[in-house]
Amino acid sequence: MARFSDANLAIANEIISRYPRPKSALIPLLHLAQEQDGWVTDDAMRHIAELTGTTPAEVKGTGSFYEMFKFHPVGKYMVNVCTNLSCQLLGGEELLEHAEATLGVKAGGTTADGMFTIEDVECIAACTEAPCLQVNYRYKLRVSNDDFDQLIDDLRHGRTGIPEHGTLATVRQSIPAEAGAGIVPPEEAREAPVWLARNEVEATDGGGDA
Ligand code: FES
Repeated sequence: MARFSDANLAIANEIISRYPRPKSALIPLLHLAQEQDGWVTDDAMRHIAELTGTTPAEVKGTGSFYEMFKFHPVGKYMVNVCTNLSCQLLGGEELLEHAEATLGVKAGGTTADGMFTIEDVECIAACTEAPCLQVNYRYKLRVSNDDFDQLIDDLRHGRTGIPEHGTLATVRQSIPAEAGAGIVPPEEAREAPVWLARNEVEATDGGGDA
């Protein structure tokens, strides 16, 4: 499927320029690919390999370590229902059953209209707010069946503000040049990075504390 669009290629090159080695940009480029298409396509992996001097196998080998990267089509909204212990005790499994019945797909499946993918997930670190779920990694807490139905209706009608799968943040990160890691690989550096020199001065001064 899709390589980077011209606009995203410009962003990809800007991201690569932040690092001493192009290969170091693999993870943010995988996020960019997933933001573009909703998942990481084979063509996107080839394109990332070309841009970073790696192979598609290295790109997939890196990305497949992380559960949040998807290498197959998924719905516009990933609905991750927690059924781990705290959520299970407070109705997480019943909530998942309700989600499956409501959307007509089992966990791991995607609705025919491509809107929703359901996942049965391990603890998402909101145990005190059980049962809980995430939609594209945005939390919904103490979710009842009625809450779930309302959530799905809101998502179908664009009332939540939750972006489609792949968009982690609606504001793109901007790193000033002086805060970057530097464009010289560490073994070729002749001067300490600006941030290291600054830290050493602060350490000598006692961190600036009175
Ligand atoms: S058990 Fe569900 S968030 Fe921890």
